[in-house]
Amino acid sequence: MKFFIDTANLNDIAEAQALGILDGVTTNPSLMAKEGITGKENILNHYKAICDIVDGDVSAEVIATDFEGMVKEGNELANLHSQIVVKLPMIANGVKACKYFSDKGIRTNVTLVFSAGQALLAAKAGATYVSPFLGRLDDISTDGLSLISDIRLIYDNYGFKTQILAASVRHSMHVINCAKIGSDVMTGPLSSIVGLLKHPLTDSGLAKFLEDYKKVNQ
Ligand code: E4P
Repeated sequence: MKFFIDTANLNDIAEAQALGILDGVTTNPSLMAKEGITGKENILNHYKAICDIVDGDVSAEVIATDFEGMVKEGNELANLHSQIVVKLPMIANGVKACKYFSDKGIRTNVTLVFSAGQALLAAKAGATYVSPFLGRLDDISTDGLSLISDIRLIYDNYGFKTQILAASVRHSMHVINCAKIGSDVMTGPLSSIVGLLKHPLTDSGLAKFLEDYKKVNQ
């Protein structure tokens, strides 16, 4: 399973990259705003800065909701850097734009996906990634993981190549459960990744090893 980090924070991205397990980054307009990145030029420069830190795919979301605007913005984003993946919302124009970009060989990530039907449309439009929002479904007492399982089943039935990118991951158990049900990718905050490291028996075991070493190697 690929690990993406879901943030526009350069320090968090660099920390995950330094672990050596990072496969890419996803951003969205809210995450850019959270880092105080405003204005078109600053936003484009920030995407370039992210691409300079990581080796993998970096999803950059269009703001336009009309087809022509999505195509214009998406082309601009794709031309920015070879690592950029054009992120498009799951609306009718987003599906059309996805088909347009996939026909041109430009990679896409269809975002804000909350149903299997939406995921089927994204795959038919040739999306590189589809982003079902796990955490936001869990937030409203709906089983986000079962949506991912349904998408897995549908994609496998027909051999769709679109990669399932479990988004809105909130914690490490989401990561583990996504891996169990065969999600291709997960994107979550740094805490969901570093949380996988932690186990008290690892810490106490290491402390004991070091103590025993010291006893005989004074
Ligand atoms: C997906 O690409 C989105 O950026 C993201 O995962 C949304 O997560 P949230 O529900 O925690 O905002």
